[in-house]
Amino acid sequence: MQTIRKISDLKIGHKVILSERQSRLTKLPRKFTISSQDEIFKLSSAKFDSVHINTVRSVAKKNIRDKTSQATSEKKKPKNPEERAKLIHQESISVSRELFKNPNLEAIKNAKNAANIIAQYIKQDEQVAMQLLALNGYDYTTHGHSVRTALVATCFAQFHLKCSNSELSELAIGFFLHDIGKTKVDPNILNKPDKLTDEEMELMKKHSLLSYRILEKTPSFSKICGIIALQHHERNDGTGYPMGITGDRISEPAKICTLADIYDALTSKRSYKAAMKPADALLLMRTKMIGHFDRNLFIKFITMFSPKAHLSP
Ligand SMILES: [Fe+2]
Repeated sequence: MQTIRKISDLKIGHKVILSERQSRLTKLPRKFTISSQDEIFKLSSAKFDSVHINTVRSVAKKNIRDKTSQATSEKKKPKNPEERAKLIHQESISVSRELFKNPNLEAIKNAKNAANIIAQYIKQDEQVAMQLLALNGYDYTTHGHSVRTALVATCFAQFHLKCSNSELSELAIGFFLHDIGKTKVDPNILNKPDKLTDEEMELMKKHSLLSYRILEKTPSFSKICGIIALQHHERNDGTGYPMGITGDRISEPAKICTLADIYDALTSKRSYKAAMKPADALLLMRTKMIGHFDRNLFIKFITMFSPKAHLSP
């Protein structure tokens, strides 16, 4: 018996039946049993809402499936955590690129799926999470920055908040989409290779409110996604925007997004500056920007990058 299942609800062990087109676009077989998160990722990256699954076979062979899927999962996964992290990064970038090119509801849904998968990896595979945290030195693009901010912020949320799977997924969606409002900013300003003038900067600053407006009206998104977007440029000392609120009035997930956002901006290349090394970026944040951050949260953020840190509970 076949049934239609949303991509976001797929799990390892589901017997998937793809159309010829779906198979061609994902480079996955027409019929297969999901044996790894990477396969779910490929399906979500290809922008399908749903696929057919074979429920009879999935239920009838459940016990065998549980054993074999684990084994095949190990076989099919890229060999080491670094390769797995690179694959997640690449797939997320392609989803994010499409989102910023064409920010329709479908692209937002795909970003939501990608964020869910990022959260699952970070929750379940600490080695991959550590590799995701180590990604830096890339060229700054809006879509790439959104992904790496989401990766670092989701790792930090897991490290600091130890939240449930669903809570971590909700935060990851907010982190992934925190800059979606930039799609409403003049592309000449958004893609300007040089530093922005004061006037251009004022227009650019509208993006956090624009992000909030997009996310608050997106069906099925929790309130925290919009709050992360709205507050990710607020500063602990009240010098941020759009509201200039201070300390306790800024939500903790937004503060986490701020730290990841600035860390990625510093460790990315731009036409007018080289990428900073992670240690140098953290030092600059401590010496020149500390008033921007919640001090205790920042100390914990630095601790996360220590080789002895553990992201799992
Ligand atoms: Fe932003």
